[in-house]
Amino acid sequence: MARSQELQSFLDATRDAFAASGATAEALSVADKIFSTANTTPGEPANPDAVEMPACEHLKAALDGAKAEDGPVADLARALEAIAPHLKWVLRPNGEDDDATFKACHANAVVIGKDGLEARDDIRIGMSLLAPETRYPDHRHPPEEIYTVLTPGEWKQGAEGAFRSPGVGGFVHNIPNIVHGMRSKDVPLLAVWSLWMGDDA
Ligand SMILES: [Fe+2]
Repeated sequence: MARSQELQSFLDATRDAFAASGATAEALSVADKIFSTANTTPGEPANPDAVEMPACEHLKAALDGAKAEDGPVADLARALEAIAPHLKWVLRPNGEDDDATFKACHANAVVIGKDGLEARDDIRIGMSLLAPETRYPDHRHPPEEIYTVLTPGEWKQGAEGAFRSPGVGGFVHNIPNIVHGMRSKDVPLLAVWSLWMGDDA
């Protein structure tokens, strides 16, 4: 079944913003695998019940900031804004014991993949939203991951790694199983992540 125009626009905007992010050749090859697979073999459209989380109150400010930029970041923010009402926002996986403040200050939503708007398990694309002054705990996972950064914010890699700012429109590339985390400063953090989970992952 055909993919909706809204979803295709989001995919194209995510791809284009990542291509313009200054990503390394290694990260661009991950992106190429993800987006070329997404475009050659669309998955089954899905329609999860839309759910909002408390942190979603920061989505508008994050999107407004991104839309005020020029070029691919603004395009991605607009594409994201169009699909946002359909998303099922959730708290982070395995975060049952997180404290109540953190639970109120973060939310994730899958766009492509389980619980997203297109069912498939070879690709997972979604986003993370943090309220200002929020630390998203370090974690790790086997799939290789790239982030397209839409707002100010800081990322780290390695248990002892220093935080750094990719900048609005910048990128993060997490190789398989690397420990990584992020934190917002005085404004909300919003970033789109894309994970490759295909056969060779
Ligand atoms: Fe991650």
